[in-house]
Amino acid sequence: MKYSRIAGTGSCLPSKVLTNKDLEKIVDTDDKWIVERTGIKERRILGEGENITGLAEVATKRALEAANMVPNDIDLILLATTTPDRTFPSNAVLLQERLGIAECPAFDIAAACAGFNYGLVLADNFIRVGQAKNVLVLGAEALSRIVDWTDRSTCILFGDGVGAVIFSESDEPGIVCSKISAAGKYKDLLYAPTGLGPDAELSPKIAMAGSAVFKVAVNTLGKAVLDVLEKSGMEKSDIDWLVPHQANLRIIQAVAKKLDLTMDKVIITLDKQGNTSSASVPLALDQAIREGKIKRGDNILLESFGGGFTWGSAIIRY
Ligand code: UT7
Repeated sequence: MKYSRIAGTGSCLPSKVLTNKDLEKIVDTDDKWIVERTGIKERRILGEGENITGLAEVATKRALEAANMVPNDIDLILLATTTPDRTFPSNAVLLQERLGIAECPAFDIAAACAGFNYGLVLADNFIRVGQAKNVLVLGAEALSRIVDWTDRSTCILFGDGVGAVIFSESDEPGIVCSKISAAGKYKDLLYAPTGLGPDAELSPKIAMAGSAVFKVAVNTLGKAVLDVLEKSGMEKSDIDWLVPHQANLRIIQAVAKKLDLTMDKVIITLDKQGNTSSASVPLALDQAIREGKIKRGDNILLESFGGGFTWGSAIIRY
């Protein structure tokens, strides 16, 4: 029986820091409101000359180094994003070229904030059926490009960044259990129009019904984490770390409560990074591993939720 395990992780944040105080100069908001309602203090956004492909290259090189691998060891690239550098070729292909990998399958995943969980499931399936040995999965976002900088209810939330994880074939799990889903009936609660075709009249910026999203997120994620736990046959007390999607500290606290986890067992990055959509889970995972919090053998629960709605949960033995 083949399984997939994490061989290495890496991440890269853009250089420019945008604090709540900076946002006070752009929209009618204040640091106190943002911290109390979201937990976010600052976020990183792309500076001059920075782009997704460049950040992804650095994140991947860090993951390769951690895995003791070279680029040509990668035989599949899955890049989750809602903000690729080009519509096509996919950002996965742009990254492949940058890494100097002559040939391998490479494609983007469009599943909004749940994109990394979707990528993890795909990687696991490719490895289990023997079609790949080392799969590079990234969450890579430049949300600053599609944020409406005049809308105080959304522009305070988002940030840019890239997280990368290499999953490799293993005799032992690895990815113990995972689940992804989507419900298109919520398509109008959180979306970014293309500004083309049926969206021609709409501004191609993020639109969100915040409090409605909040309620569905809490309920859906609460159920998703308990579902994956049940499917794994593990107990709540077996989970060492929660690595959640970093949308709102109050949502994260509600999910942690469902798992009877104290907040010192939850990886938080949103205070410094905001909501980086599909990048938030691999960014948090990499940070916690590099800080020495998450250690080999620990059981980690990853969850994410976003536009669609899409969501996913997974239990990984690191
Ligand atoms: O990653 C994908 C998933 N995304 C999420 O899960 C996000 C879910 N939603 C949220 O995190 C929260 O709904 C928000 C943080 C977006 C908003 O928090 P809220 O507690 O739901 O606030 P609200 O939208 O109900 O607005 C409350 C008040 C309103 O004023 P009135 O109508 O009560 O006078 C807003 O106009 O807060 C006002 N407000 C602000 N005030 C200062 C909204 N944004 C701001 C702001 N600064 N930036």
